[in-house]
Amino acid sequence: MKIDAETRLVGVIGNPISHSLSPVMHNAAFDALALNYIYMAFQVEKDDLEEAVKGIRALGLAGINVTIPHKTCVIPFLDELSPEAEMIGAVNTILNRSGKLIGYNTDGYGFEMALQKQGGICLKDKNVFIIGAGGAAHAIAGQSVLSGASSVTLTNRTFEKAKSLMEFLNRSSCRCNQSAGKIIPWDKDAWRSILPHSDIIVNTTSIGMKGQGNLALDIPWDSIKKDAVFFDAVYTPMETLFLKEAKRLGYKVVSGLYMLIYQGARAFELWTGKRPPIEVMEKAVLTYFARKGEQDAEKTRE
Ligand code: ATR
Repeated sequence: MKIDAETRLVGVIGNPISHSLSPVMHNAAFDALALNYIYMAFQVEKDDLEEAVKGIRALGLAGINVTIPHKTCVIPFLDELSPEAEMIGAVNTILNRSGKLIGYNTDGYGFEMALQKQGGICLKDKNVFIIGAGGAAHAIAGQSVLSGASSVTLTNRTFEKAKSLMEFLNRSSCRCNQSAGKIIPWDKDAWRSILPHSDIIVNTTSIGMKGQGNLALDIPWDSIKKDAVFFDAVYTPMETLFLKEAKRLGYKVVSGLYMLIYQGARAFELWTGKRPPIEVMEKAVLTYFARKGEQDAEKTRE
């Protein structure tokens, strides 16, 4: 990597940020296409968010990714929103177009592409069952409605949060002439009633994430449709217990790692105008994961 006076800067703002895979993924892509860009990670406190966004303009950054906890709070500081960002109500990518800051959401696109490329399934006319109602669920549910899913069914431990996500979906779906969906209780029997009709089953909760103990989703596995596809937004570990069990039972599974890769690929395209080298981005992330796994195993042995 050669840095000179013409190098364009992009990056990610969030808090915490040291775990981000995006620098590894994007810098590998810039290298592969010999683009004079560099990607950095910036830890930004909530109170400094407005100043950080002004800095994008002032320093002429090409753009920036936005991650937790700033995806929604960043919106008032932007000049324009893409239809997806408006629909999802969150921004994960900012493009600096000659000083005009445009907010995009590429998370939903990442989800859709991950399903298509890894799971061989499209959202259109499918019944989507989403477990959880946090930030990831917003992007996934919003994209499902935008892409013409037949139905979106939500379930969440805290019912109120599922309700507010559904209200949000109903408001947004009116704008794109789609019907939203329904909420079912956080209860195995209720899930049993919906799963035989679900084509795509998505976990967006943090259950299964490394460091969360031995919690597991209590899925009524005997009620799943034969050709259902499973997706887990959690990608540490890359294959969660939820996906492992689905795979063992013969279902197609898609790791949230691919949502991360495809959301990054779309951001790359927005900033550079170039076709993203997906294989390079995938390899960079997988290599990083493998190395990290080895380091963790090393630490356990110490
Ligand atoms: P993200 O941005 O990754 O989606 P989030 O917005 O904090 O993260 O959402 C976390 C989701 O995981 C929520 O749906 C949360 O359920 P609650 O709304 O009831 O908090 C869910 N979640 C986290 N831990 C959980 C647990 N132990 N059991 C059930 N759901 C859990």
